Formats: sequence, structure tokens, C-alpha cells
Amino acid sequence: MLFRVQGVTAFYDKSQILHGVDLEVRSGEIVALLGRNGVGKSTTLRTIMGIVKPAAGTITWGGQPVQGRRSHRIARLGIGYVPEDRAIFERLSVTENLLMGRRAMQGREQGAGAWDLERIYSVFPILRDRQHQRGTTLSGGEQQMLTIARTLMGNPSLLLVDEPTEGLAPLIRKMVAQILREINQAGVSILLVEQNMNVALNLAQRGYVMAKGQIVFSGTSQEIRQADDIRRRYLEV
Ligand SMILES: Nc1ncnc2c1ncn2[C@@H]1O[C@H](COP(=O)(O)OP(=O)(O)OP(=O)(O)O)[C@@H](O)[C@H]1O
Ligand SMILES: [Mg+2]
Repeated sequence: MLFRVQGVTAFYDKSQILHGVDLEVRSGEIVALLGRNGVGKSTTLRTIMGIVKPAAGTITWGGQPVQGRRSHRIARLGIGYVPEDRAIFERLSVTENLLMGRRAMQGREQGAGAWDLERIYSVFPILRDRQHQRGTTLSGGEQQMLTIARTLMGNPSLLLVDEPTEGLAPLIRKMVAQILREINQAGVSILLVEQNMNVALNLAQRGYVMAKGQIVFSGTSQEIRQADDIRRRYLEV
């Protein structure tokens, strides 16, 4: 199914953050959304999810408009969202956290295969080892994996992931990247927001570069790597 964002604008109070965002994710793709701090990447994901209301533009999923709907409705259409802050339930065990992800999506038609605890634990062996532990006792990387896994329990066809490797050690970063690759191979399309350009471009087939609330460049991962001027102006610090 084609996911398409066209001309989307958004505000926080009176300050305009998104100035007409256009992007697409096709079935089976991993697409990177890149850009410096504060350009509007997270706001783009929040607007797609209906957490921030789009002021103009259209967001369609398989041709069906989703803008203006409530967040939980959008999620039930098969769009999973992994926010920047790992919002796990600290008092609940790993297994209970995962089951909450399922419960939140009850009644939703199954998307890309049905994720259950067994399948989750085969992709995330660390979570199997920690299944009885409370959320609070997990490391940052484990919490990130749990957040991704919990979202998968709702069987999304498209996953929006915001900075999954932020603040993680290089080895854990690699594990998270590998997990995203496996999830994608299992049939889930991914829109990936990443500050780390290398992580993002290694995973994604294509990407968009954002600056000041607009897409300023789009291309294959290789084209973005080779676009020296774009990289210098909009990506490198
Ligand atoms: N809740 C909010 N209220 C007001 N302004 C906000 C709010 N959240 C973000 N902003 C502002 O909107 C702009 C875009 O923020 P956003 O979080 O989308 O950027 P980002 O590209 O995700 O940045 P980062 O790489 O730092 O995560 C920034 O100027 C930010 O200060
Ligand atoms: Mg952000």
C-alpha cells in the first residue's frame, strides 16, 4: 500500500513548523527522513499520527485520507508509531508491556503477518531473556527494543520510528538497526527518522532531507551520500 504525505503544514500555537511536507513510502520500503535538529522531523511523524493536527495538506494510506482522524484510529489503520521518548510502562514486565501493545490494537484487521509473543521473542532474544523483568530495570537499548516490539504487537503495515538509535552504544545501535531490517524483511514498511546518517542510509533504500519544515532533497541512499553540497548544507554538523 502506498503511503503519501502531500503539502502538509502544521503549527505549534502560532509558530508554523511544517511548510508543506511531501513524501511517500511504498510497500516494503525503508525510507529515511533526515535533517538537522529542529527542522521538523518529529513533528512530521506526530502530524502523520494526528498528535499534531495538520493545518493543510493530505495524508493518504492506500488512497484513503487519514488526516484529521484521531491517533488511535490512525494506528488501527495499520500505522505504528515508535516515538522519540521510549514510553514503556515501567511498572509492568516486558511481557505485560508487549501485551499492552496488542490490547491497544484489538479489533484491528491483521497487517503484515500476526506478531505474537513467540515471534517477537525470536526477533528480540534479549527481550525473551528479560521477559519477567520490569520495564524500569531495562537498559536504554533494551527499552528501545521493547518500544519497537510493543508497537509491532499491533501488527502495523507501516512503522514510523523516531531516532531509534539515539543515545545508544555502537554495538546496541547495530542490534537495533539489524532488528529494523528483519522487521522490514517480514513485510513491514518503515519511515525512519535518524540523526545518524550512516545508520539511516545503510538501512534505507531511499531518503528525504528536511530543512525548515520542508523536504529539500530526495533520492536513493546512494544519491544522498554522493550529494556533497546537500550533505554539507543540510546534514553534516
Ligand atoms: N510541543 C512543542 N511546542 C512548541 N514548539 C515545539 C514543540 N515541539 C517542537 N517544537 C519546535 O518545533 C520545531 C521542530 O521540532 P521537531 O521536534 O519536529 O524537530 P526535529 O527535526 O525532530 O529535531 P531533533 O532532531 O532535535 O529531534 C523546533 O523548532 C522545536 O523547538
Ligand atoms: Mg526529533
